[in-house]
Amino acid sequence: MEIPLIDLKSEYMALREEMLASIDEALQSMQLFLGPNVRALEAEWADFCGVGHAIGVGDGTDALHLGLRAMGIGRGDEVITVAWTFFASIEAIVHTDADPVVVDIEPDHFCIDPKAVEAAITDRTAAVLPVHVYGHPADMDALKAICEPRGIRILEDAAQAHGARYRGAAVGSIGDGGCFSFYMSKNLAGYGEGGMLTTNDDELATGVRMLRDHGQRQRGTFECVGYNSRLDEVQAAIIRIKLRHLAENNEKRRRHAALYNELLCHDDIITPKTAPDCEHVFHLYTIRSPRRDAIVQALKAADIGHATHYANPPHLSPACGKVLGVVPELPVTEQLAGEVVSLPMYPGLTEQQIAHVAEVVLGSL
Ligand SMILES: Cc1ncc(COP(=O)(O)O)c(C=O)c1O
Repeated sequence: MEIPLIDLKSEYMALREEMLASIDEALQSMQLFLGPNVRALEAEWADFCGVGHAIGVGDGTDALHLGLRAMGIGRGDEVITVAWTFFASIEAIVHTDADPVVVDIEPDHFCIDPKAVEAAITDRTAAVLPVHVYGHPADMDALKAICEPRGIRILEDAAQAHGARYRGAAVGSIGDGGCFSFYMSKNLAGYGEGGMLTTNDDELATGVRMLRDHGQRQRGTFECVGYNSRLDEVQAAIIRIKLRHLAENNEKRRRHAALYNELLCHDDIITPKTAPDCEHVFHLYTIRSPRRDAIVQALKAADIGHATHYANPPHLSPACGKVLGVVPELPVTEQLAGEVVSLPMYPGLTEQQIAHVAEVVLGSL
């Protein structure tokens, strides 16, 4: 039984009529960027996250980059983040000319380790960029307790965590700002590029609104040197339709994860944990095993989609070698790199498919 890692086509087919009608409407309006769909999506996403502002941008990387810039972060500053993430989290810091400082993660949920953050703070630390990796919230209260008294800003990388909650609050509403990606594989996505920054900070919101549109607040008046990072109407129209299904789809993901956890009970497997008071949204369902390579071989042989996020953590990449100076030792990150494998996860997955994946995984051990 062939099973993909994610299945975008069946989701599209289920919503196709609605999507095509709304894409047609957007194209016929010929208001192709920052028009009515973008404004409506911004209002709907702000409401969903419980924040005062949501600002659509070109992609998730830009949300991070423009968010840091609008916070005034730049040359001479340090921004603390993790290497257990997609490369973009570090790249966005480099784009501001600040220095990325990568620290280790905690082993239970793979998010930034607050103790490591505290140890890495210097008088140049301007911001911390926690990543809610795989859809699990980072320990935001611990981070706020470290950062707030020192005036250090927090920009949440929620690119993988649409709808995740920490002690009742939506991710993206807890730090000074939150950044989302609408890349096609994400829990909430378009069929091109897109991103969003959320915040309750009026000044940060105004800054990002200007930076995304060549430094303009009013058309024709360039108040600062900005970027071209405008969310387009077709993506916004698609994302608005999918947003209506996000909560229900996240619930399905949690149910799938619970079934995987139950079936994958084995001494050589560590299944994902959810911290108390957190709602995980399982963008990825990733297990750990000292026998990861045998599992990967078996999944390949059985035509089951899988990936190893992050077998090559970015701090060990040639690009980061140049920007990090001394490459830090990150024991938890490096151990996980050799142990993780992500299994098929998408709302439309069936119980039979999950049972088959579990059987193949267990059969390899
Ligand atoms: C954790 C994380 N941060 C940032 C990004 C960047 O988002 P985008 O691809 O929309 O630029 C991604 C995308 O994969 C991501 O997973």
